Amino acid sequence: MEEKHISVAIDGPAAAGKSTVARRVAERLSFTYIDTGAMYRAVTLACIRAGLDPKDEGQAVSLLPSIQIEFDEAGRTLLNGEDVSEQIRQPLVSGNVSYIAAMKPIRLALVEMQRKMADSRSVVMDGRDIGTYVLPNAEVKVFQIASVETRAIRRYEENLQKGIPTSLEEVAADVRKRDYIDSHREFAPLKPAPDSVLLDTSFLSIEDSVEAVLRIVHEKTGVSPSC
Ligand code: CDP
Repeated sequence: MEEKHISVAIDGPAAAGKSTVARRVAERLSFTYIDTGAMYRAVTLACIRAGLDPKDEGQAVSLLPSIQIEFDEAGRTLLNGEDVSEQIRQPLVSGNVSYIAAMKPIRLALVEMQRKMADSRSVVMDGRDIGTYVLPNAEVKVFQIASVETRAIRRYEENLQKGIPTSLEEVAADVRKRDYIDSHREFAPLKPAPDSVLLDTSFLSIEDSVEAVLRIVHEKTGVSPSC
């Protein structure tokens, strides 16, 4: 009998800790983790490197045919074969990614790639529109939130650890700006799917958030962690 693939969609606003939680949930379930935000970030980086304006749809879209985005086994983001996992976290990319992500032709191209990635295997995919648009039939949908203050502090501390120079004020402003653009764009905006489970992680540790998502996965599918 063919094995059934399971999709876990984790959506939510900027810096809510989705990628850390999603990566660990995927590890525990032996599913593949797909960071869709990294894909929008890679397009943004390519645009900046090419000297193009990330707010200009015509310029950004002209790059699409020359861009290939993949993830290696370790989950690193490859842009035309080059590991750009660190560069895509730089403030210049964070500050421009939501303009790129609001462009419909770019979303359509990346969504097609994301659906293909989830086609033949069980995945944990995180982003903004996974439960509403990319994988509307996902067995599990989580909408992960936290207060703006908590999210800004988390991202600020993450940046410090990674050696990315930012101030708390800058990070908070970036988070607010991206939340606004992501939830007000016309095509596939950030919003909870009606059948998603809301998970407020403002007062939860990473481990508690991971356990909470694993409980939701178990309730919805009967699947338990393999490790
Ligand atoms: O990790 P963080 O919350 O900072 O953001 P991310 O997941 O890396 O996503 C970066 C940006 O890509 C978001 O602010 C959105 O503008 C866009 N994005 C999107 O539009 N749709 C997705 N499925 C994932 C990300």
